[in-house]
Amino acid sequence: MVGAGVAGLVTALCLAQDGRKVLVIDRQGVGEGESLRTTAHLASALDDRYYNLARWHGADGARLAAASHAAAIDWIEHLVADVDGQCGFRRVPGYLYSHDGDTSRLQKELDAATDAGLDVTYLEAGIPDLPKLGPALRFERQARVDMDSYMATLASQCDALGVTFLKADVEQVEGGTAPRATLAGGAVINASAVVVATNVPFHERVAIHTKVAPYRTYVVAGPVRDGALPDALLWDDGDPYHYTRLVESRDGTGTLVVIGGEDHKTGQDDDTTAFVRLQSWARENLPGVESFTHGWSGQIIEPADGLAFIGADPGGEDNVFVVTGDSGNGVTHGTLGGLLLTDLIMGRGNPWADLYDPDRKMVRSPGGWLRENANVALQYRDWVGGGDVDDVEALAPGEGAVLRRGIHRVAAYRTGEGEVRTFSARCPHLGCAVRWSPQEKSWDCPCHGSRFDGQTGAVLNGPASSPLEPMVLPPRMARDDD
Ligand code: FES
Repeated sequence: MVGAGVAGLVTALCLAQDGRKVLVIDRQGVGEGESLRTTAHLASALDDRYYNLARWHGADGARLAAASHAAAIDWIEHLVADVDGQCGFRRVPGYLYSHDGDTSRLQKELDAATDAGLDVTYLEAGIPDLPKLGPALRFERQARVDMDSYMATLASQCDALGVTFLKADVEQVEGGTAPRATLAGGAVINASAVVVATNVPFHERVAIHTKVAPYRTYVVAGPVRDGALPDALLWDDGDPYHYTRLVESRDGTGTLVVIGGEDHKTGQDDDTTAFVRLQSWARENLPGVESFTHGWSGQIIEPADGLAFIGADPGGEDNVFVVTGDSGNGVTHGTLGGLLLTDLIMGRGNPWADLYDPDRKMVRSPGGWLRENANVALQYRDWVGGGDVDDVEALAPGEGAVLRRGIHRVAAYRTGEGEVRTFSARCPHLGCAVRWSPQEKSWDCPCHGSRFDGQTGAVLNGPASSPLEPMVLPPRMARDDD
């Protein structure tokens, strides 16, 4: 197993329950990737909307999608039932409301979600205690969980069943009759199957990356007045949309509200105001919210047709499996991914296998798929453009920028102490030019979402598996001024 996030740990636990010997390898440790950044809305009310899912996957596919996410929530509920505090798991309703007063989309979703088997009703008077938000759909049997407790429970149950954990970098994965993972330094781990559960696969360069698109999402949290907001999952239907839930504070002194949104494509349209915009939106729309104590961001991998890719590696050999494309429903997609992969590895049939097959074609959702791939192709034009600044002298401490030097683009960063560090701006994945993210202080690739530490160039997010290459800043030439 490569990756110790939700999908990796659920797969490891289920395989261990089936008597398989499992090794989990992660370069950072349990939950240190994207899993602990999610706000853990456990929703079968999927945010790509059932009227789209029915169009892309057929009525049966939409029903299977609803059933599989509901099954993931049930599985989590069962897992945490005997844990002290139940990992903060609560069954709560989910409310979907219009962001602009147009309720026609709600009506459409009501019909489609009902057809898909969800228990959903239309509330003309709106959400109880929040009539200001307008009419809403109420979905039953949604849930929330505290991710750190859920991840710790998964890890301890894996441990109890003899799953081994190894902190290491996996550089290569091979399948066939003798599957194996090669670690940095050359050590080889042989296995009967290898699962790549690393948010996005790092081992294959193209196949899956043409069907997913990376986005950054932002989250703020702060105390909320008791009783001001319902204990529910709230979603508006904007694009990008806002998502809200409550969480008990760790010191037991009150309740926090957690609000997310302001998504943008990774490496594109980055600015420094996402957190401020989220805070303003919260003050304007939600009663009882005044101050904010936390803020973070996360990576979302959007599949072109709304559902994750879980199953045999489409670009590789036998006995290599992938799980990717969380689509903003990472906890349920990761959990159901673990259940599905276990069946596939154990040679059992599973009714969800075709729906989530990574090799499926984008026949019914060609528009979004073509748009995302055209967008990727456009990003390569950076190589013929100018730099962000002409010289490193323009960089203030803590700032980065891309400079043009002849045929090179150079990613330059000035540390707090004034030292300037320079790297090739060429993304090691497929050669797009990285861009500076002033908000995240990182180098972000606008093509497939790899991210690199601003100071060191180390990989923060795949699919790149190696860091930005350090480079000496070449001398300036006349044409660099073009
Ligand atoms: Fe693919 Fe950078 S992530 S080129």
